[in-house]
Amino acid sequence: MKILFVGAEMMPFAATGGLGDVMGSLPQAIAEAGREEVDVRTVIPLYSSIGQEWRDKMHLETKFYVRLAWREQYCGIYSLKKDGVTCYFIDNAYYFLRQGTLYSHYDDGERYAYFCMAVMYLMEKLDFFPDVLQCNDWQSALSIVYLKTLFAGRNGYRDIRTLYTIHNIEYQGKYDFAILGDVFALGNEWHNLLAYDGCINLCKAAVVCADRISTVSPRYAKEICEPEHSHGLYHIIRENQYKLCGILNGIDYSYYNPETDSVLFRQYSAYSLENKYQNKIILQKDLGLPENADIPMLIIISRLAAHKGLDIVSQVMDGLLQNFSVQFVVLGRGEAPYEMYFRKLECDYPYQARAMITYDRDLSKKIYAAGDIFMMPSRSEPCGLAQMIASRYGAIPVVRETGGLADSIVHFREENGELTGNGVTFEEYSGEQLYRAVGRAIAYWNDTEKRPLYLQKIMSTDFSWGISAQRYLALFRSMR
Ligand code: GLC
Repeated sequence: MKILFVGAEMMPFAATGGLGDVMGSLPQAIAEAGREEVDVRTVIPLYSSIGQEWRDKMHLETKFYVRLAWREQYCGIYSLKKDGVTCYFIDNAYYFLRQGTLYSHYDDGERYAYFCMAVMYLMEKLDFFPDVLQCNDWQSALSIVYLKTLFAGRNGYRDIRTLYTIHNIEYQGKYDFAILGDVFALGNEWHNLLAYDGCINLCKAAVVCADRISTVSPRYAKEICEPEHSHGLYHIIRENQYKLCGILNGIDYSYYNPETDSVLFRQYSAYSLENKYQNKIILQKDLGLPENADIPMLIIISRLAAHKGLDIVSQVMDGLLQNFSVQFVVLGRGEAPYEMYFRKLECDYPYQARAMITYDRDLSKKIYAAGDIFMMPSRSEPCGLAQMIASRYGAIPVVRETGGLADSIVHFREENGELTGNGVTFEEYSGEQLYRAVGRAIAYWNDTEKRPLYLQKIMSTDFSWGISAQRYLALFRSMR
């Protein structure tokens, strides 16, 4: 079975968030789980941020011109093989050799339309027609749309089945109608397919065109059928619910492993926690915080976006820092008001709080390793990977019961002397509930006798790809 994964980012080449993690670990997990049965390949743009160490390993497969409406654009296909997966990179300097972030350029619609069209050409030029074309979020949605419109019935393309995976329904790829013919190269006959709620909507079109749709947790698959979580798309999702399923993401267990992680000052496991506390002391020192392993460290590692629950975080931080003997470290960047809020918090609590306003994977691992309590009170969360990473590194996750957070973290319970659960959860989206939940986590952590037991429970929860990769494989098999 041949599978082609298409997406806008992929670890370790180029990533801004969870989508990059999943593109960087799921294909490999499928390749491992499917063994000889599968031929797994991926494709992403060749961004300027992809380092020379990777470029040195790449090989130019072929080059040609891609036609998109009236444009003719160069396309080079580079490849390299990694962990059983063939990775392709679409090279076009005009679109992808840019300064700054991967997205949020004025012509993103055109850049990803080109990318999606280049993927269509790639299949023919390399004579690789997958059994399943798996596309992730709006940036790759047009490949599915092109397959069912401009390429419908063509030799080679005819038998391709498609899976559209929604990592976050908030990001839909919405554009003015004028983009349809001039940029997306789709005639007026396709207007209704792409139109939704007064504009062009790529997510909607992919949902309609795809053979199957998935989301990154079972709970989120249910939530996006409701107005509260669907960002306006629930009518369309409900109409297509018969092809929708949810499969929980995993994390890369070799990349995120405190026992072998060379980024850490000291490696550790659930049975050598004193080494974890060495990491905390080093981080405290680096950040200029009082060095003391007995002070619980609260951490947030997140894109600083509204749906991450940062408004309720800002309601509780003063109370937590004033009423408990705790430290707080946040890492992330994003919306300006939150960046400013955390910077101010650092000024207000110079002996307790630090705001690292950046995106830095190595630093994030040091913070996970130093952290004792991880806060993730999202308003909505398709899956969330940070709570899984935090668990693996032995920080007690405090999460709101939504989407993948509810599917991965279960509140601690003690019954007849037996402990179940793997963290602290709360339901109502409010500062009050968050405050209580963090208070509970601090109490668990301060219970030094039972603390190792709690941390063993947390750190032994299986968040690897194993089971989920089997679920994807079963889904792919059922599509043929
Ligand atoms: C998006 C979602 C996040 C999910 C990730 C990977 O970033 O917001 O919840 O974990 O995609 O699927």
